[in-house]
Amino acid sequence: MASREQRGSVRTAVVWDALESALAGAPRDVVDLGGGTGGFAVRLAESGHRVRVVDPSPDALAALARRADEADLAVSGLQGDVSELVEVVGAGSADVVLCHGVLEVVDPALALDRIAQVLRPGGLLSLVVGQRHAAVIARAMAGHFQQARGLLDDPAPVDARTGRRFTAPEIEELLAAAGFTGVTVHAVRVFADLVPAAIVDYEPGAAAALVDLERAVAQRPEYLPLATQLHLLATRA
Ligand SMILES: C[S@@+](CC[C@H](N)C(=O)[O-])C[C@H]1O[C@@H](n2cnc3c(N)ncnc32)[C@H](O)[C@@H]1O
Repeated sequence: MASREQRGSVRTAVVWDALESALAGAPRDVVDLGGGTGGFAVRLAESGHRVRVVDPSPDALAALARRADEADLAVSGLQGDVSELVEVVGAGSADVVLCHGVLEVVDPALALDRIAQVLRPGGLLSLVVGQRHAAVIARAMAGHFQQARGLLDDPAPVDARTGRRFTAPEIEELLAAAGFTGVTVHAVRVFADLVPAAIVDYEPGAAAALVDLERAVAQRPEYLPLATQLHLLATRA
């Protein structure tokens, strides 16, 4: 496996584990909000799900179309912003909505409200968000002490590039307010961003052992504050 691909699969293994086990069984109608170039969408289509990607970026949608073509799969790419989600895909039209790496850069309450509208009752939300405590530590370790101090108590964007970060209680509160229940939380990338890339790339067996370690801590609450991201699964009431 190429190094870049290998590092990508280390970063997403915990998310895939939870998602694939939640989606096992019949094909579902999946909407990937902010699905970008289709890393998740194409693999879900490969598993037989009917996937629509909604993203405002024409470049991302063009890359998605190329990727789907290469895999000989049908994935609809729809240009749209989170605020237009209901108009673009239709109310109550999805069994599953993915919202990975998007809540950081949009109004989170508005996004969760729109997602709840497009999900059928009992539908599943898969949410990946940046976790604030790990971001504070990462900024401090990079010598950006003022940025780290600013982020400590404030989820609002410190800089427009990375967007806001959430703690587990904050995101759970937002989900409850939007009417989601049955929330499970996984710690994602607890170690993956701390390990030197060369170890993962060149040391035989290191990538697989790191994935194993990430899986071992994913459901341990004490590791949530160390995770670069949180993966949450939640059900629309
Ligand atoms: C960090 S990328 C995540 C891509 C993909 N979900 C993944 O996990 O690999 C963020 C994506 O959100 C999209 N995005 C940005 N603003 C958005 C908005 N207002 N509504 C919907 N998507 C948005 C971007 O175009 C980009 O594709």
